[in-house]
Amino acid sequence: MSQPVPAGLEKVLFTEEEIAQRIREVGAEITRAYAGRTVKLIGVLKGSVFFLTELARHIEVPVKIDFLAISSFSNKNGAPGVVRIAKDLDEGIEGDDVLLVEDVIDTGLTLRYLLQTLASRAPNSLAVCTFLDRTSRRIAQAPVDYRCFEIPDRFVVGFGLDYNQLYRNLSYVAALKVEPSLSAQRRP
Ligand code: IMP
Ligand code: MG
Repeated sequence: MSQPVPAGLEKVLFTEEEIAQRIREVGAEITRAYAGRTVKLIGVLKGSVFFLTELARHIEVPVKIDFLAISSFSNKNGAPGVVRIAKDLDEGIEGDDVLLVEDVIDTGLTLRYLLQTLASRAPNSLAVCTFLDRTSRRIAQAPVDYRCFEIPDRFVVGFGLDYNQLYRNLSYVAALKVEPSLSAQRRP
């Protein structure tokens, strides 16, 4: 039976149980990959917070956590993908095994910028873990090492993802009823 959802939402794509199960699996993958090391999770505010905290509980090697915030906007010609750091990390990452944790990778422009920026700070290793991946809209090719779910070309909310700052607290992921095709968040 499908779960009842708030009026603005169309349908649930991933239930709380499916998300919990998948995060356990990805956490186990990361545990194996980082055996004998400490992994530093870097979350991108605010969307990745829900995912990062759940993921961290399922990683069984020592974990450190730091956050950064970005703002993205269009350039003068309306092209998307101009990104800057609005809040930087609290600590340096030189020599660290860094795992960048994202909520969703769409065009890949944000990820490309973040990887370039973080790589310039000389971490020992740098990998990417995303909760959702929408490969169909990729513009910038960027490596994704761990992903929980591939999603269709629909705007989604919940489990950290927002529409106008709403819906982040949903325990599931759902598609919006009305596609915000001109949303500055996604198609600037
Ligand atoms: P991109 O990969 O640079 O295009 O940007 C990804 C960012 O756009 C994400 O970190 C989100 O903040 C936002 N975004 C993309 N798709 C969605 C969506 O379906 N729901 C909510 N936010 C989204
Ligand atoms: Mg994001």
